[in-house]
Amino acid sequence: MIKNICCIGAGYVGGPTMAVIAKQCPEIKVTVVDVNQQRINAWNDADLNNLPVYEPGLADIVQEARGRNLFFSTEVDQAIDQADMIFISVNTPTKTYGIGKGKAADLKYIELCARQIARVAKTDKIIVEKSTLPVRTASAIRDILDNTGNKVKFQILSNPEFLAEGTAISDLLNPDRVLIGGNPETEEGQAAINVLTEIYARWVPENRILTTNVWSSELSKLTANAFLAQRVSSINAMSEICEKTGADIDEVAQAIGLDSRIGSKFLKASVGFGGSCFQKDILNLVYIASSYGLDQVADYWEQVIIMNDYQKSRFANNIITTLYNTISGKKIAFLGWAFKKDTNDTRESAAIYVADYLLNEQAELAVYDPKVSEQQVLTDLNYLNTRSEQENVNLISFNSCPYENCKDAHAIAVLTEWDEFKTYDWQRIYDNMLKPAFVFDGRNILNEKELTKIGFKYQGIGK
Ligand code: NAD
Ligand code: UGA
Repeated sequence: MIKNICCIGAGYVGGPTMAVIAKQCPEIKVTVVDVNQQRINAWNDADLNNLPVYEPGLADIVQEARGRNLFFSTEVDQAIDQADMIFISVNTPTKTYGIGKGKAADLKYIELCARQIARVAKTDKIIVEKSTLPVRTASAIRDILDNTGNKVKFQILSNPEFLAEGTAISDLLNPDRVLIGGNPETEEGQAAINVLTEIYARWVPENRILTTNVWSSELSKLTANAFLAQRVSSINAMSEICEKTGADIDEVAQAIGLDSRIGSKFLKASVGFGGSCFQKDILNLVYIASSYGLDQVADYWEQVIIMNDYQKSRFANNIITTLYNTISGKKIAFLGWAFKKDTNDTRESAAIYVADYLLNEQAELAVYDPKVSEQQVLTDLNYLNTRSEQENVNLISFNSCPYENCKDAHAIAVLTEWDEFKTYDWQRIYDNMLKPAFVFDGRNILNEKELTKIGFKYQGIGK
């Protein structure tokens, strides 16, 4: 019986996942630890608006469980020591140095966790890989844990997370499936699988809890993300054909989505997918394939990224050519900066790359996003290192009022599909813009007919 769970990593996965486990299992003490003091402080902030992760429904769950059986702390050693089960939910970014630079997953944080667990643990523990990892990572973790010489026994499970940001809480409460990879051949291995299954079985129907071998579980996570991203790149590839032929991508998506073999989800053409995982996980898959000499397989998946990069630059290019081939000194108002709606996460957001492209042409950007701060936008652009921090400050303005943000703009670019954009008073926005007033709808969320009637020059994706 599990009494104490520790989760290493209090990020977008560790925080919401553990909050839901704590909510559903009030008698289990769940401690989420992180080396980032600021993040832990934010998780402990009395004002729930200051939680480091914005997700609909999250604040209510944190309010219910925090201090009861959900704790956030920087005392990593202590939490490891007390836990029967340890989730590793640290970041696994793309390597920026050395062998595999730009493709392979950087596993240094995972290894640090394994070494810390090995050093601190005095009692047997179940280690759960929650982070997304290259297939066969569990064997490296096992090597580290088995060589501590302190006779502690570890069971290692893979339990990848499939939540999507913006819908994390409903995904966690009602998942399509929970995947548990383990070693049922040994008695202890089977027991570990059973223990984790019992936790999820409190609220997930048993037929949605799938057990596989560890390697299948690790690889299934990369495969799921690769398939999802591939659908977005596929529909985006078709969007350009639509623009050349008079077909409409939303109509095409609807027509093919009604085929039950294809399905209707994930067929929304866009300015390009973003987020911390799709690109990183596909690059990781490409690297794994290459390292086994499977060059055709690697090229096949890399094309999904190439198409996505092309979609972002195509969107930016279209703005420039439509605005009479020069945007120098012109104000372009961005609506949205997050990589999708209902999240404050901006990692790999298409907005960053489109902005960089337009800034290279000396545009002046005005950015509004309901959940993203001015500082975050500047941090994202500074990270690219394309121009000095001061230049970024000079070229970008912010306004917490969307109407002010769009005032005197030559064009509006919709980068995120926030619902509120649909219900704005577009006549008011039009009246305060320079004419001709352009709208580039990178998410196809606005009402083209209505906007055109007002007088806007509207362009969607694949229209
Ligand atoms: P994140 O960057 O938001 O959070 C990771 C946290 O781990 C950070 O706060 C960092 O300080 C902490 N950390 C790193 N090393 C540590 C250590 N040694 N000790 C203690 N804390 C440490 O990342 P995330 O978005 O939560 O993603 C975590 C993993 O989950 C990644 O592998 C990712 O691919 C995967 N994943 C993410 C999502 C998502 O929607 N973000 C969904 C499914 C899976
Ligand atoms: C994705 C997966 O959906 C999750 O199952 C997975 O757990 C997660 O990655 C992960 O491993 O990190 P997430 O990136 O949070 O989740 O969000 P998605 O809804 O998948 O959207 C990703 C990007 O694709 C967004 O920029 C979104 O706007 C874009 N997208 C999505 C489209 O452009 N069109 C679509 O039809 C769907």
